[in-house]
Amino acid sequence: PVKRISAPDIAARKGGEPIVSLTAYHAHTATIADDHCDFLLVGDSLGMVMHGYESTVPVPLELMIMHGRAVVRGSKRALVVVDMPFGSYEESPAIAFRNAARIMKETNCGAVKLEGGARMAETIRFLTERGIPVMAHIGLTPQSINVLGGFKTQGRTRDQWAAIEEDARAVAEAGAFAVVVEAVAEPLAARITRDIPIPTIGIGASAQCDGQVLVMEDMLGLSPRVPKFVKEFGKVGEAIEGAIRAYADEVRARSFPAADHTYGVKD
Ligand code: KIV
Ligand code: NA
Repeated sequence: PVKRISAPDIAARKGGEPIVSLTAYHAHTATIADDHCDFLLVGDSLGMVMHGYESTVPVPLELMIMHGRAVVRGSKRALVVVDMPFGSYEESPAIAFRNAARIMKETNCGAVKLEGGARMAETIRFLTERGIPVMAHIGLTPQSINVLGGFKTQGRTRDQWAAIEEDARAVAEAGAFAVVVEAVAEPLAARITRDIPIPTIGIGASAQCDGQVLVMEDMLGLSPRVPKFVKEFGKVGEAIEGAIRAYADEVRARSFPAADHTYGVKD
């Protein structure tokens, strides 16, 4: 069997060849991405992408566990990181540990991710000292949408920089093995990447980061609207639509199923 990439393996990639990651929510896409990605993120964006929620706030822990199990089953090589959903970790380090341990035990993933910088440092330390590798997530933190008032780019003015740089330092000191930096202006992402000893994983944070992550459906061209920072590398939505239209047409014309797809009698 192939050896899985571990959280320390990712941490050791600081400053080296860029770390490649995508979200994955199912076994089949995990299998395809496994050959090309260093880690697969079971992001709570699945609530919006797969389940039609308007934000990630309503996503239940059980949903993260169900999708996490599918991605672990579908992959062999990549580290699988599962997002802790809103409400499952903010209250106290002890509650965070209980829920993170549940995610690790029930999915067999290799690490969890949670949102927040300096304010989550105590919790990150509590988890990592007790055997749970933690990826942090700073800059735009979508679970705080109701406080932020929208999905807004961070660090566009220099007066915002000190707080975000402090977040980066705090999560690194607390023992996070890597940190997602979301929707942050390029010069700030570059400074953070230079200043901290753990890999920065950018999403909308420029090529200056130590790695990149995107929501798979966004880069496949399967999401109805995408942020500026997404590049559509495929037109999978159009491909699906074309196939479904052809199927519907052929069923209506009785040209599908044809002889090739039909059973006769053996005698
Ligand atoms: O939930 C998610 O997909 C994420 C990434 C985009 C970083 O947290
Ligand atoms: Na997320």
